[in-house]
Amino acid sequence: MKKWHLGAILAIAFVITLGASSNNPSESIAKPEDGFKNLKVLPKDISEKALDSVMGEFCISLGVHCNFCHARKEDTTQRGLDFASDKKMEKEIARHMYTMTANINNTFFNWKSSTHPDTIHTVVCYTCHRGDKFPDSKMFLSRIDSIEQAYHKNRPH
Ligand code: HEC
Ligand code: HEC
Repeated sequence: MKKWHLGAILAIAFVITLGASSNNPSESIAKPEDGFKNLKVLPKDISEKALDSVMGEFCISLGVHCNFCHARKEDTTQRGLDFASDKKMEKEIARHMYTMTANINNTFFNWKSSTHPDTIHTVVCYTCHRGDKFPDSKMFLSRIDSIEQAYHKNRPH
C-alpha cells in the first residue's frame, strides 16, 4: 500500500515538473551530435530534454530503471547501456504500447473532434501501469480485494 502511494505521488510530481528533470537513477541521456540513432515512434528531431522526460515517465509508470528496456553495451569492457540497440524485447513492446496509447487518445478521446483537444493526452502509461511493469487484471483485482477488506474493517458497525 505504501509503495502505491509513493508511486502515485511520484507520477503527479512528474507530470507537474514535466520536462524539468528526470527520474534518472543511473544513466544520463546525451544527444549525439548527429542526433538520436534509432527512433521509430518518437519524433526524430526530439530534443534531449523532451526525450529525457519521456524516458522518465516510462520508468516511473512501470516502476523500472532504464535497463528494463535498454541492453548493455556489446563491448563488455565498456560500462553503461546501448540506448540505440533493439536487443531487448521490452523496448519493442514499449514502442507498441506507445503507439497503442496514442491511438486510444486520438481515436476515443477526440470523438467528434472534441472542443477540448487537451483531453487528447488523457491516457498515459501510468493510467494502466500504476508503477507496475505487468498490469494484468490480477494486479487490479488483488488491489480491489485489499481496498475492499480495508473498507469492511474501517466501516462503522
Ligand atoms: C519502458 C521501456 C523504456 C525505459 C524504461 C527506458 N526507455 Fe529509453 N527508449 C525506449 C524506447 C521504446 C526507445 C525508442 C523510441 C523510438 O523508437 O522512437 C528509447 C530510446 C531511448 C534513447 C534514444 C536512443 C537512440 O539513439 O535511438 C535514449 C538516449 C534513451 N532511450 C534513454 C533512456 C534512459 C536514460 C532511460 C532511463 C532514465 C530510459 N531510456 C528508459 C524505451 C525505454
Ligand atoms: C490500456 C492499458 C495500457 C497502457 C495505456 C499502457 N500499457 Fe503497457 N501493458 C499493459 C498490459 C495489460 C501489459 C501486460 C500484457 C502485455 O504485455 O500485453 C503491458 C505490458 C507492457 C510492457 C511489457 C512488460 C513485461 O513485463 O514484459 C511494457 C514494456 C509496457 N507495457 C510499456 C508501456 C509503456 C511505455 C506505456 C506508455 C507509452 C504503456 N505500456 C501503456 C497495458 C497498458
